[in-house]
Amino acid sequence: MSEENTIETMQHEGRTFDPPKGVQQNAYVASMADYEALYARADQDPEGFWAERSRELLHWDKPFTKVLEADMTTPCIKWFGDGKLNVSANCLDRHLTDGRRNKAAIIWQGEPEDDVKVFTYQMLYTEVCRCANLLRKLGVGRGDRVALYLPMIPELAIAMLACTRIGATHSIVFAGFSAVSLQNRIDDCQAKVLLTADAVLRGGRAIPLKGNVDEALKTCPSVEQCVVVKRAGIDIRMVEGRDIWWHEAMAAEDISGECPYEKMDAEDPLFILYTSGSTGKPKGVVHTTGGYLTYAAHTTQWVFDVKDDDVYMCTADVGWITGHSYIVYGPLALGATSIMFEGVPSFPKPDRFWKIVEKFKVNIFYTAPTAIRALMREGTDWPKKHDLTSLRILGSVGEPINPEAWMWYYENVGGKRTPIVDTWWQTETGGIMISALPGATPLKPGSATRPLPGVAAAIVRADGSDAGPDEGGHLVVKKPWPGMLRGVFGDPERYRKTYFDRFPGMYEAGDGARVDKDGYFWIMGRLDDVINVSGHRLGTAEIESALVAHPSVAEAAVVGMPHHIKGQGIYAYVTLKSGIEESDGLRKELVGHVRKEIGPIATPEVIQFTDGLPKTRSGKIMRRILRKIAEGQIEDFGDTSTLADPTVITSLVEGKKDLL
Ligand code: WTA
Repeated sequence: MSEENTIETMQHEGRTFDPPKGVQQNAYVASMADYEALYARADQDPEGFWAERSRELLHWDKPFTKVLEADMTTPCIKWFGDGKLNVSANCLDRHLTDGRRNKAAIIWQGEPEDDVKVFTYQMLYTEVCRCANLLRKLGVGRGDRVALYLPMIPELAIAMLACTRIGATHSIVFAGFSAVSLQNRIDDCQAKVLLTADAVLRGGRAIPLKGNVDEALKTCPSVEQCVVVKRAGIDIRMVEGRDIWWHEAMAAEDISGECPYEKMDAEDPLFILYTSGSTGKPKGVVHTTGGYLTYAAHTTQWVFDVKDDDVYMCTADVGWITGHSYIVYGPLALGATSIMFEGVPSFPKPDRFWKIVEKFKVNIFYTAPTAIRALMREGTDWPKKHDLTSLRILGSVGEPINPEAWMWYYENVGGKRTPIVDTWWQTETGGIMISALPGATPLKPGSATRPLPGVAAAIVRADGSDAGPDEGGHLVVKKPWPGMLRGVFGDPERYRKTYFDRFPGMYEAGDGARVDKDGYFWIMGRLDDVINVSGHRLGTAEIESALVAHPSVAEAAVVGMPHHIKGQGIYAYVTLKSGIEESDGLRKELVGHVRKEIGPIATPEVIQFTDGLPKTRSGKIMRRILRKIAEGQIEDFGDTSTLADPTVITSLVEGKKDLL
C-alpha cells in the first residue's frame, strides 16, 4: 500500500438474509454449525482436510502420500507433491464411466439465438482428444506453452483441455486485448503454438481478431504455428507455412478421437494467466495441476452447491480466471453441466441473460456487479418478462457489490427466493476464498461474508499485527491453500516481492478490508495502483506507459474514478510535450491510442491535460491528490506540505472545472 492510501469504512449494512429452507435442506454445508465445525477442523488439521477433499473430488493416477510442503517466506509451496494426475482425465475420461457419458458437459449458447451446441461428456472427450492429437502433431509436448486468443466458442474449452491432456501449459489471452498486449504475453511465455479465430461475434458485429494476431506475430519468433477457427467467416490473411484452419486440421485422416493422456506431477504447471499489478508489465500467474484442480472442484461444489441435475451458468469470459475456474475446470471436474455464453448481456435486448436462464432452466447463475448495475438501469420489466423460477443460487464476483445492486439482483432475478453468494477471490488465489455457503451463511448485502473452511484469511495492520473488529487493514491469508499461485512466470523474485515480502509468512492480497463483529469480511478495494474496471484489473502503470508511448505526451498519471456502472473508470492526467496544442481531437487520439495499445477495456473515461503533476520534492507523484480531484472532492487535500509546487493543485482543480 502506498502511504497515501487511506482506508475508508464502507457503509454498515443492517439487513441480513437467512438461507432459504429449500436450499438448506440438501446443501453440502447445511448450517452455520456445520460451517463452524468444518472451519475449525480445517484450521486444526489443514493437511487432513485438504487431502480428504482432494481424494474425494479427484482421480489420482498415482495417489499422493505427501500433502503439503510449504514455506510461505521463500516462498515454496507444494501440494500433493508426489501424486500424479491429469486434468483432462479428471474433467472427461472418468465421466465416461460414472453414468455421465451422455450428460451435457457444455451447453454453448452462441451470440445468434439459434447458435446452440451441446457437447455431452463423450462428445467433448472426442473433440479434446482430437485437438490434443493435433497439438502433438504440431510438435507441442509436455511443458511447452500454447497461447489461446479465442472468443467464447467451444473450441476455447476444447483447446484448454487438449493442452492439459498432453501436459502443455496454456496461456489464454482475453480476445478483447490488443495486438500489443497479445504480443507481450506471447513473448513473455514463449508460446510455441497460437490458437485463434478470424473474428469475435459481439453485439451483432464481427470484430476482426486475426489482424491483431498477424501484427503481434511479426515480433513473436517463438510461435511456429497458428491454428485459426472460422467463427464469423470474414476475409482474413492466412500466412503460408504458419497458419492453418482448425476445421481442416481437425478433420485430417491421421487425427484420431482417442489420445492417451500424460500422467502429470501434481506440481507441474497447468496454465499461465497474465494479470495486472501495480508496477510494470502484467505478471504471468502460474497455477499447477493437483492443487488448482482440487481447489476449483471443491469451491464449485460447496459455494454453488452444484447437484448432478443442475444447469449451471457463469457469464464470465474464459479469458479471465473466473472463466477458467468456474466455466471449465471446476464444473467439468464435478461432472456438471456448464453453460458457455458468447455475447453481451444487452444484445439484442437487455434480457439476454434472462432469456437464457428461461430457455435452459438455469439453476445456478454467477455474474458480476457491473453487469447487474448495467441491467438495473434498463428496469425491472426485462427480468419480469421471463420465468426465472428455476434459479436456486445466484453469485457475484469481481468487485464489491453495492447493496443497491445486491437488492435488485435478489428481488428481481432471484425473486427473493435465492441466496446470493458474493465471492471474493483473485487470479492468484485460483478459486473462491471468501464467500457465503448458500445453505449455511446468513447474508449481509455488500459483504463477501466468511472465509471458506481451510482459508486462513485475516486483516492485519501495516505492521503485520491483527486488526481489531471493524478496523480496516490489509487482507492477508496466513496459511497456504491448494489453489494458490505457485509463481510469476520467469520471475521468482517478483513472485516473492509482490505477495510474500511485506508480511512475512503471509500471502498479501493487495486488497483492503475490515471484519465486523460477526466475523464478516467487507472488502474495500485495492490498496495498490490497480484499477478495477467492470471487474477487470488494470494497472495504472500500464496505462501510463501506453500514454507516454504517444509522441505528443511528455508525462501521464492515471487514477481510478467512481463510475456508476463500471465500478471504476480510468482518469488520466496528461502533460503534453512543449509546443503541442491541447485539443479535443488530440484527446480522442489519445483515447484511441490506449485502446490500441492495451484494448478497449482500458478506454480512459477522462483525459485532463495539465501543465504539471503534483510531485513531492523527491519527484514522487502524489496520487492521493489526483484521486481526490478525479472523484470531484476538491475541498480538502490533507497534508500537502511535501509538494514541490503547491500551486499545481489550483491549476488541476481549474482544469477539472473546465472539463465539466
Ligand atoms: C476484486 C477476479 C470485492 C479484488 C476473481 C481482487 C472483489 C480483484 C471481489 C481480483 C468481491 C474480486 N468483492 N472485490 N466479491 N471479487 N474482487 O484477479 O480487488 O481479476 O483483488 O480476479 O478483484 O481480480 P481478478
